[in-house]
Amino acid sequence: MEDVVLAPGRYKNLHSSTSLGEKFGHLHQMIRQEFTYIDRVSVSLFDREMNALKTFVQSSKDMPLQFYECLIKNAPSLMEMKALKKNRLVNDMTVFNNGTHEHTRKIASNGYQASYSVPLFDCDDFIGMLFFNSYQKKVFKKKDLIKLDLYAQLINCLMVNKLQSSQMLVGAFRSCLGLVSYKDPETGNHLERMARYARLIARELAKKCHIDLTDEFIENLFLFAPLHDIGKIGIPDDILLKPGRLDEKEWEIMQTHSSKGREIIDAIADHLGLQSFEHLSLLRNISGSHHETIDGKGYPNRLKQDEIPIETQIVSVADIFDALTSHRSYKPAWSNEAAFEELTRLSGIKLNPDCVRMLMENEPAILAIQNRFGDAPGDHA
Ligand SMILES: [Fe+2]
Ligand SMILES: [Fe+2]
Repeated sequence: MEDVVLAPGRYKNLHSSTSLGEKFGHLHQMIRQEFTYIDRVSVSLFDREMNALKTFVQSSKDMPLQFYECLIKNAPSLMEMKALKKNRLVNDMTVFNNGTHEHTRKIASNGYQASYSVPLFDCDDFIGMLFFNSYQKKVFKKKDLIKLDLYAQLINCLMVNKLQSSQMLVGAFRSCLGLVSYKDPETGNHLERMARYARLIARELAKKCHIDLTDEFIENLFLFAPLHDIGKIGIPDDILLKPGRLDEKEWEIMQTHSSKGREIIDAIADHLGLQSFEHLSLLRNISGSHHETIDGKGYPNRLKQDEIPIETQIVSVADIFDALTSHRSYKPAWSNEAAFEELTRLSGIKLNPDCVRMLMENEPAILAIQNRFGDAPGDHA
């Protein structure tokens, strides 16, 4: 009998706790061994709430589409693939030459000439789209598609697995957060708005400040930003709900919510068996360091400048801006102009100046978030 030795470690990257982007890079290499003409593999995620597809992960170096969202109702062919669970082969993308969609224009202008698209599902729930693109025309053959469909199924499973882990983690934390919101005066739509400000800042930083953030990172930042104060679960009610000023001892206890947050996250991830979830550090950093300031006078670890992870610096600006522009029991809501003045004062001292600038330069996007997620009278404490 002959021993068959498989290429050592050929699939090991698919099982490691590397990011989905890295797994995609590896999968793409495997696919290219057989289909040398495939130059890009990408997945866009479906956002049910907004009924939009948003770029999520891709393997090519040229990254033709990033930080992009498209309402699905504006893309009839995607709607059809979603409704009929149907794949689509376009062997000559010049058919899109007169198209009006930014996504088809951008893909074509980067030289891609053919595409094979596959809708992804978790049972019957549409979760996103998978795209195989080639720089060459008419290269996808019918017989190849049968094998490509197998890869598509593998990617579908990878996505379901990844989304379920995130949903489980976020679901568990959101349940805990329900307990905090129940007690914490920071109510209303604070968390909805600050998560969106954080995503806005991150996307703008990546586009304009050449900070290396991926769609996958930004999506997780958006999911996890609302959990920044999860550690408040561990703060006694008489301190958390105290109407007046906290004395020195109480303030010390209040400050422990950052490190308590990190401990709670570790404990829950442990209970769910998700210790190796690849974005756990993002969540731990957001919760554990969101009161660090770049002058090194924050808490709990007095981190300075770049010692503070970028995700945390982004969340701090988003959180402070929303706190300033929201009504609280101790203050009225400030106007955006007044809040901008305060952010400018803190910029470079307490807050990352690029993060502040990326927020302030996008007032129309801020107003859209405030209109969509405004607080009803009585929502606040
Ligand atoms: Fe906090
Ligand atoms: Fe907050």
